[in-house]
Amino acid sequence: MKKTTQFIEPFGVDIDLDIGAMPGAAHHLVRRASDMRGYYTDEAALERLICQGDPVHYEVFETPVPEEIGHLMYCISTLQPGRVGDEYFMTKGHYHTCIETAETYLTLRGNGYMMMKTAEGRVCWEPMCRGRMVYVPPYWAHRSINTADEPLVSFCVYPGNAGHNYGDIASEGFSKRVYLRDGQEVIV
Ligand code: F6R
Ligand code: ZN
Repeated sequence: MKKTTQFIEPFGVDIDLDIGAMPGAAHHLVRRASDMRGYYTDEAALERLICQGDPVHYEVFETPVPEEIGHLMYCISTLQPGRVGDEYFMTKGHYHTCIETAETYLTLRGNGYMMMKTAEGRVCWEPMCRGRMVYVPPYWAHRSINTADEPLVSFCVYPGNAGHNYGDIASEGFSKRVYLRDGQEVIV
């Protein structure tokens, strides 16, 4: 029978559950504060952070598999703790290019939220904490937000053909954001 999905050899990978890394990962994406221009409410606070050493915001570790139907892409996403002004550190967020694809996020460490939205304007958020899995259904853009004082580490799995569309969410934005105000975490 002709195989339409690429045949590859089985493999295993090591995951450091404590620090939130995949030591042998072939791809290691690092996003710094300077990669986040345009995403936070307080632009001046972001520029100050960039001037103060441009710290790492988040990292993604993955060993890619073929980007096609049938395969499962997986990665470790590690989002550092911190705030830009009073807004908690967050990922850029994206829709999947193939919008009919879902994703699961299993939190391994830390606390925060998965903020999700549809192109029609529905917004929804789910708490992220160790031992909890968030299911991001097809059609929902998603961004993680770290509200704790330690890294927020997730193990993500999604279809190989999902792809990432950052452009639409960069222009639409998310209508709900998470801040620390008067000592309280608020979603407004
Ligand atoms: C993959 C996925 C995560 C994110 C990661 C970084 O589909 O949702 O692995 O890629 O948390 O966030 P973004 O990609 O929004 O910069
Ligand atoms: Zn995704």
